[in-house]
Amino acid sequence: MNNILIAPSLLAADFANLQRDIEMVNASDADWFHIDVMDGHFVPNISFGMPVIEAINRHAKKPLDVHLMIEKPERYLAEFKKLGAANITVHYEACTHLHRTLQQIKDLGCLAGVVLNPATPVSVLEEILPDCEMVLLMSVNPGYGGQKFIESTYDKVRKLRTMIQEKGLNTLIEIDGGVNQETGQKLVDAGADILIAGSYVFGAKDPIETIANLKKIK
Ligand code: DX5
Ligand code: ZN
Repeated sequence: MNNILIAPSLLAADFANLQRDIEMVNASDADWFHIDVMDGHFVPNISFGMPVIEAINRHAKKPLDVHLMIEKPERYLAEFKKLGAANITVHYEACTHLHRTLQQIKDLGCLAGVVLNPATPVSVLEEILPDCEMVLLMSVNPGYGGQKFIESTYDKVRKLRTMIQEKGLNTLIEIDGGVNQETGQKLVDAGADILIAGSYVFGAKDPIETIANLKKIK
């Protein structure tokens, strides 16, 4: 894989200057906007909801990659599509009828992805993998930005890459949490296609340059 996609996570943006930060991403080499939705139940934290996403979508010139850290996400899929979601990822741990939920996401015309928490093995994807257009592996426990990268993720990426190859699929592998230039390079070496980065990008002196350097990873 030599065209790695970069998705800055707006969770680490300055919400009082959201339009400025969105324009920065528009002007950068980034590919997607990563949008973290948290409900205070599936994860302890609450991030932002519909009106904020609607406002983001008014300014964003790149696809919205919506990561739902919420229980029973099937209740809100159509609404997120209406708000501008291009991709919708749901947690394996939050979906009782995952197959149906993925089907609903595809029926809405969105790219459908499954997210695994750090403690959930990739082996749970055995049956569902052909129905996933993307798998997001959490490399931190979901809920907060700025956490320490969990090193066992590299092995997990390699295992998932092997599963995808053995099944002859072209499922994309996306990684979320603690991504920086160094972990990003190792993740791509292990087989990742898409890197999400929050605090590393928005906490940088020069976010545009930081994104450009992530985009150069091969
Ligand atoms: C965490 C979110 C991430 C978060 C990543 O639950 O899913 O997208 O923004 O933040 P960093 O890149 O700072 O670890
Ligand atoms: Zn996320």
